Amino acid sequence: MNGSSSIVSEECQRWDERYATEPLFFGDAPNPYLVATVERWFPAMASRSLSALCLGEGEGRDALFLARRGFTVTAVDGSLKGLEKLSRRAGAEGLAIQVMHADLAHYEPASRAFDLVSSFFCHLPPELRRTVHERAVRALRPGGFFVLEGFTPRQRELGLTSGGPKDVRLLFEPAVLRSELERRPGEDGLELFECEELVEHLDCGRHQGEARVVRLVGRVSSKFVDRTVDVPSPSGRGLG
Ligand SMILES: C[S@@+](CC[C@H](N)C(=O)[O-])C[C@H]1O[C@@H](n2cnc3c(N)ncnc32)[C@H](O)[C@@H]1O
Repeated sequence: MNGSSSIVSEECQRWDERYATEPLFFGDAPNPYLVATVERWFPAMASRSLSALCLGEGEGRDALFLARRGFTVTAVDGSLKGLEKLSRRAGAEGLAIQVMHADLAHYEPASRAFDLVSSFFCHLPPELRRTVHERAVRALRPGGFFVLEGFTPRQRELGLTSGGPKDVRLLFEPAVLRSELERRPGEDGLELFECEELVEHLDCGRHQGEARVVRLVGRVSSKFVDRTVDVPSPSGRGLG
């Protein structure tokens, strides 16, 4: 495992305590939105190996799914306990996943290195969130995809108990996400295919029941696509 344990935030240490309490805090199954996104945009593996970066990956349910699909995966999280579970599970399946123990405040991914960057329920303070998302876009290869799901402020306003941080500043407002990630003329950013708030019924470990979530998927704008690179075509099947 790479990274440094000395610089993670208290929030990551709290995740260590949660992950220590039970075998899998968020269950075994990959996030359904990630599965649908991969099936739509990466329906068959390209001729070269595709690479994925999973931010705030925790116990690794999504990293394992991507590695099983043939992606070369890097998983980053500030919780050592979560990553230890991920490493054990990957080892048991003979999957090679690069596991990085780091606080996202200090983690700078390589530029233009990944075909897919994922962020699932990785709720960060607004300033850090903006920085992490800027780095995520920079980390995408031409034509690469960013996919995110997380709770919106309605989760708290409606008193829903299916999960999410109590501090509303950490929740994802779709319009704010759009303004932060969508490409503006002359700037880097994403062509957004989806950035919607939905009513979902969550069934993954501690996330159980009705929830208000935002689901976002976008691609580094075609302006930046290098046609010589073998990336998935946007003519794939629709989201299921
Ligand atoms: C709600 S959990 C989601 C885990 C995983 N994405 C999933 O869906 O199963 C949030 C994860 O983000 C990680 N995290 C939160 N803040 C972080 C930070 N500043 N740096 C690195 N990881 C962080 C936590 O350690 C935790 O594993």
